[in-house]
Amino acid sequence: MNSNFWQNLKKPFFVLAPMEDVTDTVFRRMVIKFGRPDVFFTEFTSVEGMFSPGSMEVAKRLKYTSEELPLIAQLWGVNPENFRKAASLIADLGFTGIDINMGCPVRKIIKTGGCSALIRTPDLAKEIFLATKEGAKGLPVSVKTRIGFKSIDTENWIGEVLAWKPDALTVHGRTVAELSKVPCHWDEIGRAVKLRDEISPETVVVGNGDVKSVNEGKELAARWGVDGVMIGRGVFENPFVFREDAGVSADLRDRLEMVRGHVLLHREVWGDNHNFNPLKKFFKMYIRGFDGAANIRDEMMRMSTIDEILLYIDSHLKL
Ligand SMILES: Cc1cc2nc3c(=O)[nH]c(=O)nc-3n(C[C@H](O)[C@H](O)[C@H](O)COP(=O)(O)O)c2cc1C
Repeated sequence: MNSNFWQNLKKPFFVLAPMEDVTDTVFRRMVIKFGRPDVFFTEFTSVEGMFSPGSMEVAKRLKYTSEELPLIAQLWGVNPENFRKAASLIADLGFTGIDINMGCPVRKIIKTGGCSALIRTPDLAKEIFLATKEGAKGLPVSVKTRIGFKSIDTENWIGEVLAWKPDALTVHGRTVAELSKVPCHWDEIGRAVKLRDEISPETVVVGNGDVKSVNEGKELAARWGVDGVMIGRGVFENPFVFREDAGVSADLRDRLEMVRGHVLLHREVWGDNHNFNPLKKFFKMYIRGFDGAANIRDEMMRMSTIDEILLYIDSHLKL
């Protein structure tokens, strides 16, 4: 794949957002069954961690199967040299592209100087971008960011990023200070598209924030001119979110089978020793939208092993 990858997608294309502790290889493979997006991202992966003694743990984030391609590896960190080395490794691992996280607003991450903190250090941000590009062996390099740190600063900050001429740019239409507490400023995403037209016409722009269906995404793309739309939390409300026919019927049995499919794949990929609690968010995601869902969900929330879940599902399906 060369840097035309982003250019070659039919527009508007749809992307599953990178989400820490959610979009691992297991969930991405489940999403493929429910209705696949055009592009996947990994969870954010620390370039510092990749070259530390804990690197085996970090590498789990980069596990994937070929069915998940096209797949973009998302990196974060502060050391340009580590980005260069990481980019080279990512290229050898067969990913479709590399994305640099310049948007995560979590306080302990900001303290490291990485992710959204880079909005305040544009020289370092640029150095990181260029180092990644150098290491990437021709893979496309993209950036995912927000529209400012404390206040909306689209003109300056997005203008700065576009001057580096990234292959793609995902704009989450909120500032860092806004976290997810206010509605997404899609008008600012539209402004980013206009800046792209002036500064870097070759850059593909992906809009992100609050999109709950493909139809809504298509309307937003038509209105604001983005090339693609990224959906994150929309998949929690509707695992079938990437299907055009969003009203997919999924009854109790289907939903229990979704949980069973997920926990079995989880066990196959990660083994039984993997922490069970992070699986609970998937029970919330799958078990909804039918009579009695709340009760079943509550019962599943009290369980603590995959075997318990499987027995529970078996007994329910026999009813
Ligand atoms: C649980 C969770 C984890 C996230 N992890 C990441 C991440 O690893 N990298 C990243 O760029 N954004 C991350 N995000 C932000 C999302 O990618 C996305 O930008 C944000 O949720 C807004 O889109 P939405 O309104 O469609 O959810 C995360 C969001 C959530 C809810």
